[in-house]
Amino acid sequence: MTQEEVNVKILAIESSCDDTSAAVLEGRKVLSNVISSQKIHEEYGGVVPELASRAHQKNIVPVVSSALKQAACTMDDIHAVAFTSGPGLLGSLLVGTSFAKSLAFAKSLPLIDVNHMKAHILAHLIDDGQERFPEFPFLCLTVSGGHTQIVRVNDPYDMEILSETMDDAAGEAFDKIAKIMGLGYPGGPVVDRLAREGDPSRFPFPESKLDDDKFSFSGLKTSVLYFLQKEVAMDPEFVEKNKADICASVQHTIVGTLINKLERVAEREGIHDLCVAGGVSANSALRSELQALGERKGWNVFVPPFAYCTDNAAMIGISGYYEYIKGKRAGWNVLAQARIDWGRK
Ligand code: KG4
Ligand code: ZN
Repeated sequence: MTQEEVNVKILAIESSCDDTSAAVLEGRKVLSNVISSQKIHEEYGGVVPELASRAHQKNIVPVVSSALKQAACTMDDIHAVAFTSGPGLLGSLLVGTSFAKSLAFAKSLPLIDVNHMKAHILAHLIDDGQERFPEFPFLCLTVSGGHTQIVRVNDPYDMEILSETMDDAAGEAFDKIAKIMGLGYPGGPVVDRLAREGDPSRFPFPESKLDDDKFSFSGLKTSVLYFLQKEVAMDPEFVEKNKADICASVQHTIVGTLINKLERVAEREGIHDLCVAGGVSANSALRSELQALGERKGWNVFVPPFAYCTDNAAMIGISGYYEYIKGKRAGWNVLAQARIDWGRK
């Protein structure tokens, strides 16, 4: 690694969904990572795309300014601008994309487009002074509000999706079931908190049985809905009285599905370095089950710090860094893309 690669400073911008974030990285180290989460969506029980893009517009200048300030930098210290070009909500992506393009153009800096899903995975390569890093090839279970994937990561540039959801994502299952229970949005963290007091074996919900290249969570959502409708018809207080046990049982089913499939794919691929990424990797049961799997099998498991689990610009910065050192640059005609086809061989 050259000295220039170690010292390169990248300003990174993330705006794919409902978090506006900016970060400054020096090489693989994070100097700042500022995240402004939009509260407005809580009132609506889900992300409202139009409101998200308006809030990004409002937030982006202050978020970028404070990322530079916290990193003790000005734009004159920055060597390149990295941004999320997709996948995500188009209106949200357009705000970050237009901002990054204008800023890089005005400052004559290289521009680097980053894939949000790959960035969740590369967050594991951020150097926060930890002793261990995953070794290539490793597997990453990426679980967020929009995605559920097991990805084989051969190196920072070569990734292959081995399993993917056919319908709802794991985070979406948490959110939709929480909504049915009247727990608010986003539901994942609330379910996680309530589940700590509950019995995970009280209500055995069915786990989907599919080939290892597929996940499905919409059946679980439907079976929870029908089960609750039946119980509430007999006792209107049922959800309120059994909240913790319902949450623990739902969480147990979702986490069980994720861990069982990851274990089988790891056995099949002969890969024993396992990572988890995306918003759902903040889930405490998923974290402890993954640790338990590692201990049982003697495998290496890697769980990112909370700040790098949910959407953040530090992960865009580390991805931008790898693109930068490979000499990859975006053209001024680069576009935001709601969907990006990647990782399928
Ligand atoms: O990666 P992310 O911040 O945004 C994208 O979807 O890209 O993930 C957000 C998702 C939401 O569905 C949220 O409910 C879920 O992550 N989540 C959790 C937890 N914290 C966030 N799900 C379960 N347990 C948690 N502790
Ligand atoms: Zn995400």
